[in-house]
Amino acid sequence: MAFTIKINGAAHSVDVDGDTPLLWVLRDVLGMTGTKFGCGMALCGACTVHVDGNPTRSCITPIDSIGASEITTIEAIGTTPAGAKIQKAWLDREVVQCGYCQSGQIMSASALLASNPRPTDADIDDAMSGNICRCGTYGRIREAIKQAAQSSTQGG
Ligand code: FES
Ligand code: FES
Repeated sequence: MAFTIKINGAAHSVDVDGDTPLLWVLRDVLGMTGTKFGCGMALCGACTVHVDGNPTRSCITPIDSIGASEITTIEAIGTTPAGAKIQKAWLDREVVQCGYCQSGQIMSASALLASNPRPTDADIDDAMSGNICRCGTYGRIREAIKQAAQSSTQGG
């Protein structure tokens, strides 16, 4: 079945079964491999994208549920104000270890900052608790989110 979905501001037409997960469409059909497959069961957060700005596990999101919603992936998150601040803070704090979980981490953190420019520790824990990092980068992730939030409140 043919679907036209909007990803990072561009329309893409794909011909797949309606229950095909968005993650499969991104990676295998469209070749956008920045979004990662971890568990396939909404347990790890590696596959997180934004659907209309909301962090969403693409591994359990069927393509026929997308409709006219706008999808943003890691490939374009740096073009959003919150995403740009998060990416800069990630580099400044050298958050990444192996990197596998990090696109999902950045997508969740960017959604948090976009909706809540001054997150508390509890807000950060709440927003990031579904993103698992086997390398244990949680401390640096928290510091990077705080740095990005500070640059937001300073307008920088
Ligand atoms: S791959 Fe989607 S949450 Fe793990
Ligand atoms: S950086 Fe290796 S799993 Fe998170």
